[in-house]
Formats: sequence, C-alpha cells, structure tokens
Amino acid sequence: MPESHRHVAIFDAYGTLFDVHAAVARHADAVGPDAAALSETWRAKQLEYSWVLGLMGRHAPFWDLTEQALDHALSRYPEVDRALRAPLLDAYRDLAAYPEVPGTLRALRAAGWRTAILSNGDSGMLERAVASAGLGEHLDAVLSVEAARTFKTDPAAYRLATAHFAVAPEAVLFASSNRWDVAGAAAFGFRPVWVNRKGLPDEYPDFPPERVVRSLDALL
Ligand code: LAC
Repeated sequence: MPESHRHVAIFDAYGTLFDVHAAVARHADAVGPDAAALSETWRAKQLEYSWVLGLMGRHAPFWDLTEQALDHALSRYPEVDRALRAPLLDAYRDLAAYPEVPGTLRALRAAGWRTAILSNGDSGMLERAVASAGLGEHLDAVLSVEAARTFKTDPAAYRLATAHFAVAPEAVLFASSNRWDVAGAAAFGFRPVWVNRKGLPDEYPDFPPERVVRSLDALL
C-alpha cells in the first residue's frame, strides 16, 4: 500500500473483529438443532432494528436492540429453551475476537497506522468486548455511533471517524465483514476493504470495496 495511504485504519466490530455467531456456538449443544437459524435470525433482526430506527431518526443503545433481537429469535424457534436467554447474552457480551485480530492490529500500529473501531455497538458493550478480547492496547480509539445518535450507514456515523482523527475520508482504510457496511463506507468516501470471511457473493455493485480479503492479516 502506498505510504501516503498509511494513515488511519478503522474497523467495524461485530462480524469483523468479533465473531457474532460465537455466542450461540458456545451453547450449541444446549440450543439444539435450531442453533444456526437462531443465530442468523438474532443477527439479522439486530441489524434490521438499527436500520429501521435510523431511518426514523431515532436511536437506542445497540445492546437493547441485541436483547430485543434475541427475544424475537427465541420466539421464532420455540424449541430452544428460553432459559438460555441469559447465558446467550452473557456470551455475546464477551465475544471472542477472530484469531488474527490482535496480531494484525499490533502489526499495523508498529507500521505507523492509527487504529480504531467504528461500530453500531454502544460504548458500554464495545468497552466490554474490547477488554475481554484484550484489544484495548492495540487501538487508538473505540468510536460508537451513539455519539451521533444514528447508525451506519448514515454518513453521520462514518463522519465520527474523520472528525476524531481530523482526516479526509480518502485517508481512511475502513475494513468490515458486513457488505452493507462496506457499501456505506464507499459512499462516504472511505477506502473500503471487504473482509469476506465466508466467501459470500458480492452485492451493492454501485458501492464496491477497493479490496476484498478473506481475513484481516491480508492487510499486512
Ligand atoms: C458493528 C456491527 C453492526 O457496527 O457489525 O459493529
């Protein structure tokens, strides 16, 4: 990557640094055969609630949306024991980071990058996730969209990063596993990298990533 672009690397949190399906996976045996569907529904509804609120011009802590989404997912899959609600939420609070994450962040900072999270997560849940995964020492900032009382893909959410680091959007490498987030970052003018961990087909053709990688260490 040219030296002039070695400025700021911003990372989405959920799905990109933290495995959102690790919570259900931790309790997979107790959840039973609906585990994968429950986890997909939980994630899809969590995101849907954020977009619907954002379009309404409303905001709520992402943790509340996470709880509401799990409640909806549990109602959709009634075979899953409701007693798992609390353990699943506890597991979500302390999601594991993908294995390459700490090393990649450390190496980027050693190479002169400033690093940060920009997430729909509220600051409380982000602080806890960052601490439990031991990422704090590798990050210059943990930015929550709650400061703009909106959610990605609202440009006001991405603007928090350029304002924090006092840089232009094109100076920011923005990495996300969420293709919708890559689209929002491209529209904002970031240099987006799609971390396509699952080899999913591309979408949002008008808002392409600059690069596609399978895991974060490919940035090094
Ligand atoms: C994040 C979620 C939405 O912003 O992936 O971290």
